[in-house]
Amino acid sequence: MQEKITLLEQELKSFQGRNTADLELFRMKFISRKGALAELFEDLKEASPERKKDLGKSLNKLKQEAEAKFEELNQTLENSTGPGEVELDLTLPPIPNKTGNLHPLSLTRYRIIEIFERLGFSVADGPEIEDDWHNFSALNFAENHPAREMQDTFFLERNPDVLLRTHTSNVQIRLMEKQKPPIRAIMPGRVYRNEAISARAHCFFHQVEGLYVDKNVGFVDLKQTLYQFAREMYGQDIDIRFRPSFFPFTEPSAEIDIQCVICGGSGTLRDGQACRVCKTSGWLEILGAGMIDPAVFEFVGYDPEKVSGFAFGMGVERIAMLKYGIDDIRLFFQNDLRFLRQFG
Ligand code: PHE
Repeated sequence: MQEKITLLEQELKSFQGRNTADLELFRMKFISRKGALAELFEDLKEASPERKKDLGKSLNKLKQEAEAKFEELNQTLENSTGPGEVELDLTLPPIPNKTGNLHPLSLTRYRIIEIFERLGFSVADGPEIEDDWHNFSALNFAENHPAREMQDTFFLERNPDVLLRTHTSNVQIRLMEKQKPPIRAIMPGRVYRNEAISARAHCFFHQVEGLYVDKNVGFVDLKQTLYQFAREMYGQDIDIRFRPSFFPFTEPSAEIDIQCVICGGSGTLRDGQACRVCKTSGWLEILGAGMIDPAVFEFVGYDPEKVSGFAFGMGVERIAMLKYGIDDIRLFFQNDLRFLRQFG
């Protein structure tokens, strides 16, 4: 019996508890009334009277040691919260190593590009610092058009011929100047306007321009293309409408609205309140478009008798705000991680 006690004592001394399961094992063996130690106390009853005293002493010592160690293990486990003390489940998938996510404007731009690439459009690029010809004159802006004035356009170096482009339509001109039709391209980029910053407007934002020039391009092609885009972007059920509008470089011109994404086009919210996003009209403007004005074709050296085409321009911020239900354009540029992380 003395041998059993010594063995158990050795086991007790070398016992290492790393987690609550270990602690429970220890408790079962050394503390529980059904454990190995309790069993030895049972055996003690059978021991001869002359050995009982010594054996009893050793057993009691072992019991005290067990209780002290149990207490100690309990304490260390309670104090430690590190992952080393938690039982590892090796079948769990690894915790993803998140290094960041795309900005909502990038996500939106990529989505727009993806949709138009499938429709056969390529992607083109142009300068943000532009001259008057490409930003205005070749786009048929009259000499005294208000968009050229100081309140809209940022001029660099007091030189009216060096400016920050006010739209991506400048790339239309650059493409047509260096390329013969047919052209089917979209042109994403940043644009600048001298406007007061508010929830709805910023002094710089992003646009995606579209241009399609070929023989016999008609308004129906423009309509189909934009229908397709709206459905891909906002869902197959979305309704769109064309409103007559004016741009110097397109004739006829249109502004395109989609059904309000907040109230579903009804103008009122579910609780009966008026929809503030569409101002109860049920429609939201998403882009400007039209058939290329023959005057523009002449400026770039195309024969308006032989080719026709359409163009469109959309604001990426606006498309994103309607897609994600964002009501303040400034959020895109504040770099608040709480905002940005929602788009991972
Ligand atoms: N450039 C116009 C704007 O910024 C949008 C547009 C592009 C309209 C192409 C018609 C055709 O408002």
